[in-house]
Amino acid sequence: MTTKTTLAIHGGKPAVSKQAPELFDWPILTKEDENAVLEVLRARSMSNTDVTEKFEKEFAEWEGTEFCLACNNGTSAIHCALYGAGVRRGDEVITPTYTFWATHTQLLSLGATPVFCDIDPFTLCLDPKDVAKRITSKTKAIIVVHLFGYPADMDAIIDMVDGTGIKVVEDFSHAHGSTFRDRKVGSIGHVGAASIMSSKPFATGEGGVLTTNDRNIYEQAVCFGHYERIASCVQDPNRLKYAGLPWGGHKFRMHQMTSAIARAQLKKFDARRAEGVSASERFYNKLRDIPGVKPHWPFDDERCAVGSSYCERIILGDEIISKVPAKRICEAISAEGSPTSAGTYYCHHLHPLWNELDVYGDGKPTSIAFASRDTRLGPGSLPIAENINDRLISAPRFSVNMPKIVDQHAEAFRKVLSNLDQI
Ligand SMILES: Cc1ncc(COP(=O)(O)O)c(C=O)c1O
Repeated sequence: MTTKTTLAIHGGKPAVSKQAPELFDWPILTKEDENAVLEVLRARSMSNTDVTEKFEKEFAEWEGTEFCLACNNGTSAIHCALYGAGVRRGDEVITPTYTFWATHTQLLSLGATPVFCDIDPFTLCLDPKDVAKRITSKTKAIIVVHLFGYPADMDAIIDMVDGTGIKVVEDFSHAHGSTFRDRKVGSIGHVGAASIMSSKPFATGEGGVLTTNDRNIYEQAVCFGHYERIASCVQDPNRLKYAGLPWGGHKFRMHQMTSAIARAQLKKFDARRAEGVSASERFYNKLRDIPGVKPHWPFDDERCAVGSSYCERIILGDEIISKVPAKRICEAISAEGSPTSAGTYYCHHLHPLWNELDVYGDGKPTSIAFASRDTRLGPGSLPIAENINDRLISAPRFSVNMPKIVDQHAEAFRKVLSNLDQI
């Protein structure tokens, strides 16, 4: 059904007649979360690890990995994961250029060298074909980001590293509960790490988790940033002799108020995320038949399932962006009562932080301070990522499913995207 009607930016009736803030409230917090936090406070147990250890056990079970290491944020969890995977000075690490900075900025303090790669135009995750071209004898790890909840093509990545010794580090900060061939992302590569800060699907406040089945990776991660856990978590006697001091000089312990919220949230997470997913699917289904509109959702890839509603996006085809810029489309949709915006991240390979900044005074850019070659890339090198912001618009992130109002939001998008001649 195409609605031929006046767009709200031209004075027409907005498609969304009733704003429902509860549709978007996240995280959902109840008395159970409050009581869990109060218990920690009353026990004056904020800096201990007893609640954290219980959470780690429960999260590992939920994730399907042998180990979970809780950290104070996702950035530190990824730092531990990279160190744990063996990333050291001068190693090359392939990582998507289009992501949040905390996917890989830790490489600067590890003395490792980023090798930025392009993204796939539909999954928006790293493009395995582009990754394959960038592997050298110096490649130590590949960082896979399951961007905006969409699982990356893990078949291609795992096949590529088979027998090479290259480690796969999954940043699953956007994708808690997303699956690839029925396995949760974050449990498929050698090590996973994720943010669990307040806006994330599994949201606890500031926090991060590292997940792995590899004891060696786990022990190195513990040694790097968890001085007080080395004696109890590590078995290797060569590591145990350094117990009590963090090798990285970092203190990455999770605050136990976070651990308490995490335990309470985990009990309800599967039911809550299923509701958000059903709302998003309903929304996207109403837009799928519009020419040039591609929901960022794996409708056509039965290997993948998105686990939670988070950072929903729509990719616009040439037939749309050749007529109207994404920014203008967003203004029109927002006027219909469904706030949206264009683009998301910038491309890291073009940022001066990676191309110029000498963080530690080595006399050269830190990103290549220990490299055996100059890995920096100029404009035009990673074309899909460089142009994606022109065709990417945000869609509502539904916390709950209120079908009638979800349908109005879909209508806001549909109305504008089917009446481009009006803008
Ligand atoms: C893809 C990605 N990786 C890592 C992080 C870092 O997590 P944190 O903010 O918990 O440090 C975030 C977000 O916040 C993220 O979006």
